[in-house]
Amino acid sequence: MSEHTRSRPAGEEISSSATAEASASGPNFSRRTFLKSVGVTPVVAAAIAPEAAEAQGAAIVGPDAAPLTLTINGQKKTVTVEPRTTLLDAMRQQLDLTGAKRVCDRGSCGACTVMIDKRTAYACSVLAVDVEGADIRTIEGLTQGTVLHPVQQAIFEKDGTMCGFCTPGFVMSTVALLEKTPNPTAAQAKKALDGNICRCGTYVRLLEAALSVKGGARG
Ligand code: FES
Ligand code: FES
Repeated sequence: MSEHTRSRPAGEEISSSATAEASASGPNFSRRTFLKSVGVTPVVAAAIAPEAAEAQGAAIVGPDAAPLTLTINGQKKTVTVEPRTTLLDAMRQQLDLTGAKRVCDRGSCGACTVMIDKRTAYACSVLAVDVEGADIRTIEGLTQGTVLHPVQQAIFEKDGTMCGFCTPGFVMSTVALLEKTPNPTAAQAKKALDGNICRCGTYVRLLEAALSVKGGARG
């Protein structure tokens, strides 16, 4: 999977040292220095021509749609996608997995949050071809029959949803938090959820819900 899974991972911030370095560099601050400071090398920023990639033995995908197998909630799913197709589009348009919501479609709101190899990711900012073979989890995989996942149940009990567009994303970010940190502090929970935006302003109740189910990872 590429390094640019999401534009700003939930709970991850550009380090203050990188910011300080940028400030200290002043007018001499170069693109190379910037890339280095945020952990991106110029190599990955460069595009590789298709001819060069082919010469290196890399498989060329596209520009036409091609079949692709994704592993979502433990099940193999086949989609036919162009290289430009996002994971969100592949799921919503071809697999009828509409739990992840399209709101901003540009990696800033978190409504499309899923888990990829145990990390949260914005599905609108991930190419489907980049996650073939990865373990993708969506909100559809949480409910056991009619029994809600404890995080979903907690949000319901805390009345943490209004229009509901942000809710699946918050649920996935909370599940990811609790599986990694079963007993989070309020600060840890806030940080884990800071990549999700709720325009209805349910933050306090969503935070209460996240903290109310601490005490064990819920698979
Ligand atoms: S971050 Fe993907 S829809 Fe907003
Ligand atoms: S409940 Fe409406 S955006 Fe969060």
